[in-house]
Amino acid sequence: VREPDLAGRHVVVSAGGTREPLDPVRFLGNRSSGKQGYALARTAAARGARVTLLAANASMPDPAGVDVVRVGTAVELREAMLRAAADADAVVMAAAVADFRPATYATGKIKKKDDQEPAPITLVRNPDILAEISTTRARSGQVVVGFAAETDDVLANGRAKLKRKGCDLLVVNEVGERKTFGSEENEAVVLGADGSETPVAHGPKEALADTVWDLVAARLE
Ligand code: PMT
Repeated sequence: VREPDLAGRHVVVSAGGTREPLDPVRFLGNRSSGKQGYALARTAAARGARVTLLAANASMPDPAGVDVVRVGTAVELREAMLRAAADADAVVMAAAVADFRPATYATGKIKKKDDQEPAPITLVRNPDILAEISTTRARSGQVVVGFAAETDDVLANGRAKLKRKGCDLLVVNEVGERKTFGSEENEAVVLGADGSETPVAHGPKEALADTVWDLVAARLE
């Protein structure tokens, strides 16, 4: 049994993948299942934290003892995140957030017309929630953790992303069509803004989650 080293702390975790609707039946989405974020929520609760889990399109049941807020799009996730982070000691963003959304939403199903080429889909930028949370710091001493899902030059891209986003810790993991997304296991390197690099060997997503909370706990006084 673990020490309740997060007792009295409020932590916010995002999980799953946003869906950006095109019309009432279609969306742009990604392969995140929410398993890594749910593992973070469960392990934080087991260590005594009050946990708010912002779940984007995850199909798992609510973890016991965790406050779950369900969201769909990146814009909805941002609103829920700003509200939940206002009094949070730590924020961990494991959700896969769409960088872009369709510029327009068709209120009726987009029809295929036999004599026409398909219309291109115009995209606009979504807000960068992690960068905003990192620069705002709703509460002094708040620890902010991001994830980086990379397919190539994993560590180099992760190091650049850490600087760009301004978070305290960035968990860099490799993803692919059948890698990390939806699986029970993960492996990662956790980069610190202080230059630290903590490798986490291949194992259950709970083990990576516990390493993240160890690093967070060390940064909370
Ligand atoms: O859910 P699983 O199936 O268990 O898979 C886990 C996972 C692969 C989804 C997870 O481990 C992971 O890597 N999550 C982050 C996915 C992601 O969006 O990575 P990114 O490199 O595109 O984004 C970097 C960080 O910025 C993330 O913390 C993301 O939440 C955040 N972000 C991204 C875009 C945006 N507009 N706003 C954001 O806040």
